[in-house]
Amino acid sequence: MQNQTLFPLYNKDKPAGDPLQASQAEASSHTRRVYIETYGCQMNVSDSELMAGILTQNGHQTVPHLDDADVVLVNTCAIRENAETKVINRLVQLNHRKRRQPDLIIGVCGCMAQHLRDKLLDAAPYVDLVMGPDAYRNLPMALDSLARGVESHVSMTDRDPFVGLRLDKSEDYADIAPIRKEGIRAWLTIQRGCDKMCTFCIVPFVRGRERSLPLKLLVEDVEKLVDQGFKEVVLLGQTVNSYRDNGADFGDLLYAVGDVNGLERVRFTSPHPADATDSMIDAMASSASVCKHLHLPLQSGSTQVLERMRRTYTAEEYRNLVSKLRERIPDIAITTDIIVGFCGETDDEFMETYQMMADICYDSAFMFKYSEREGTLAHKAFLDDVPETVKSERLKQIIELQENISAAINRDTVGDTVTVLIEGESRRNADKYHGKTDGFKTAVFPKVPDTKIGDMVNVRVDTTTAHTLIGLTV
Ligand code: 5AD
Repeated sequence: MQNQTLFPLYNKDKPAGDPLQASQAEASSHTRRVYIETYGCQMNVSDSELMAGILTQNGHQTVPHLDDADVVLVNTCAIRENAETKVINRLVQLNHRKRRQPDLIIGVCGCMAQHLRDKLLDAAPYVDLVMGPDAYRNLPMALDSLARGVESHVSMTDRDPFVGLRLDKSEDYADIAPIRKEGIRAWLTIQRGCDKMCTFCIVPFVRGRERSLPLKLLVEDVEKLVDQGFKEVVLLGQTVNSYRDNGADFGDLLYAVGDVNGLERVRFTSPHPADATDSMIDAMASSASVCKHLHLPLQSGSTQVLERMRRTYTAEEYRNLVSKLRERIPDIAITTDIIVGFCGETDDEFMETYQMMADICYDSAFMFKYSEREGTLAHKAFLDDVPETVKSERLKQIIELQENISAAINRDTVGDTVTVLIEGESRRNADKYHGKTDGFKTAVFPKVPDTKIGDMVNVRVDTTTAHTLIGLTV
């Protein structure tokens, strides 16, 4: 089930849409109406909420429709080539719009802005603003100067773009209040950047070094989110479980957030296996509101490939970790990320991944073909030498395997009663609700009187597919 929405963190292939409602800035002559379009991971959705907060604090408005905007900011992803291709195609469309609406300001923000820099401006010279993830405080200044067509400290004429690409280890946006879409689930960034340096990965180069937000502030944020009506909080970080604040670690944070009154569920994504400490496992095992679901990216089942990827664990260590997790938390749901066709991956090495997936039986998996990223360590040190056809064939094999495993795991739940947090009306049938189980499985069931979105209900599972549990409330 490649690219299915688990956490949208890995739903790279479609824009997450405008996550933001219209913000309520006091309109003045310098007020810009900004439409933010988000691609890529959940961290980007969270960053778009942050951008909306910064813009609103500075007298601008966010609008829910492009037609109402005089600025469009495309928040982009650089993780694989197809994510960047998608954005380039979108920019071409936006340029058509700009021909009809010459004052339209087009901005490219986020990871791809940071990754491509000058190349982006060569490919899309009509872009007015290029801004990386650590520079969003400059957005209001950039919009003002673009609107005036004058900028004093960056040499530009009214046709020059505004470029803000400095990575800043001290930038954590701790003082900014994001503007979130109302709903059941809120995303809370607890850490920015990444220090891991996996050889395939562009993230450290586009998001900079790792930094954590203060624990006390995060707990206050969660209390505010509960007051605003959110039932579930998802803690976000590139390697979320390497969180540190003075002496506190990720387990301490989980306990502290889990204790917030009125919060039904806490989730987090994505942890790194090397940082899966006992402290984290204890908190998952014993804090009632921390969901028993772990997204634990494996990437490859071959120790040799893991070494080339610089994942800092062996296949055996990963297997031992999974055994320990299942011992401590017997009903835990485990999901993963897999890359096939990494540099030099042999048939045997691929089969080790296949076998590992067959042995571990993940609840679900995001599976990708290796996509070489300029600037990464792998790009410098290794050849991207697995032919595209071989990558595709390997991907097909593991998708088929995982579909069967997911279907079998779900089939096993028939007759069980699961607790579901209602998230909304089923898209296919307005008489039904959909929601998630603790293990992040989607459940669909007929509405019953006296239940509403945000309620926790018990559902008895009657039938299943590889992706959904279908049943009745009991
Ligand atoms: N090619 C393919 N997949 C990648 N990922 C990260 N970088 C690459 C790349 N260069 C995948 C990993 C990671 C997920 C977010 O995206 O599986 O866990």
